[in-house]
Amino acid sequence: MEDLFLGIETSCDDTSCALYSLDRGVVLHRTAAQLDHRRYGGVVPEIASRSHMRSLLPLYETVMGEAGASLSSLAGIGVTNGPGLTGSLLVGLSFAKALAYGSGRPLVGIHHIEGHILANALEGELELPAIVLVVSGGHTQLVSMERIGRYRVIGSTRDDAAGEAFDKIGKLLGLPFPGGPSVEREARAGNPAAFDFPRGLRRSGDRDFSFSSLKTAVRLKVESLGALTPRLVSDVAASAQEAIVDALLEKSLAAAAETGVRQFYLAGGVAANGRLRERMAAGLGEAGVAVSWPRPVYCTDNAAMIACAACHHIRAGRTDGLELNTFPRGALMSWS
Ligand SMILES: Nc1ncnc2c1ncn2[C@@H]1O[C@H](COP(=O)(O)OP(=O)(O)OP(=O)(O)O)[C@@H](O)[C@H]1O
Ligand SMILES: [Mg+2]
Repeated sequence: MEDLFLGIETSCDDTSCALYSLDRGVVLHRTAAQLDHRRYGGVVPEIASRSHMRSLLPLYETVMGEAGASLSSLAGIGVTNGPGLTGSLLVGLSFAKALAYGSGRPLVGIHHIEGHILANALEGELELPAIVLVVSGGHTQLVSMERIGRYRVIGSTRDDAAGEAFDKIGKLLGLPFPGGPSVEREARAGNPAAFDFPRGLRRSGDRDFSFSSLKTAVRLKVESLGALTPRLVSDVAASAQEAIVDALLEKSLAAAAETGVRQFYLAGGVAANGRLRERMAAGLGEAGVAVSWPRPVYCTDNAAMIACAACHHIRAGRTDGLELNTFPRGALMSWS
């Protein structure tokens, strides 16, 4: 019988459930986005956890029902147990524990960033060793990946994450939340060379990133421009996006040159950005390095990546007991 793994993801504001098998890949995946946060221009933790409590059971029943799967026949259950919002993580973890306890099926906690990285495995077999540029709402990291389960962080942001920078710039421009997709949309009509925004840590000689000076520069520019015409909004969006992409590409090129790795992957919500994909493919391609990324729905938070990670952990014999807890912050660790 086919090994079917259930994934559950509730680390931030998206409630997601998925079934994955090594033979068929993603069997079924459903994500319920929480729209209430738009009114507040950001994620409100208390609203997020209450919304997970309302959405998770119906979502699970839909996924299992549509796939014709039964709990007792699952090969295992994977759940994101950190990093993320504690109240949100607890809803997913408690639910997963109850399923595991009731069914006796194996349970494993998945680090959210390993999930984002393994979203690339949903698109086909990984070419390894590789470097993964993780660019999400809370993380900006270069991760050297020798094999599945063996990771080394070789560069990180010293302040804001790239997604956070997109979100804050979107807010400064009065664009709808989340800022990333809004800024990308506006940038299409803008001139990326209209304003010269800072590329943080350009000459730092390491592989770290910084986006706080960009955010300040955009705020000062917006204040100095006065009334923002649609043209100015597009130009600021395009110039800020270009500064973020330049910084990510420059450090990625340095990491590729220093390590000699021939394969790069993008992961996390910002990996959905078309300009980033285009510039990374061209820039790294020129250096003889291939670049791949997951389709947009697997870039942002989703349970398919968690089910896939669970499949690899459980097949390698790594499971957790019911004492498993959440963690709000914590580095990605190797396990194989
Ligand atoms: N097309 C896009 N261009 C730029 N940024 C984008 C795009 N689509 C989504 N994002 C950004 O991706 C982020 C959300 O990604 P993701 O869901 O991976 O983050 P998160 O789960 O909140 O953070 P983390 O994964 O670090 O815990 C947001 O900051 C959002 O603005
Ligand atoms: Mg995420």
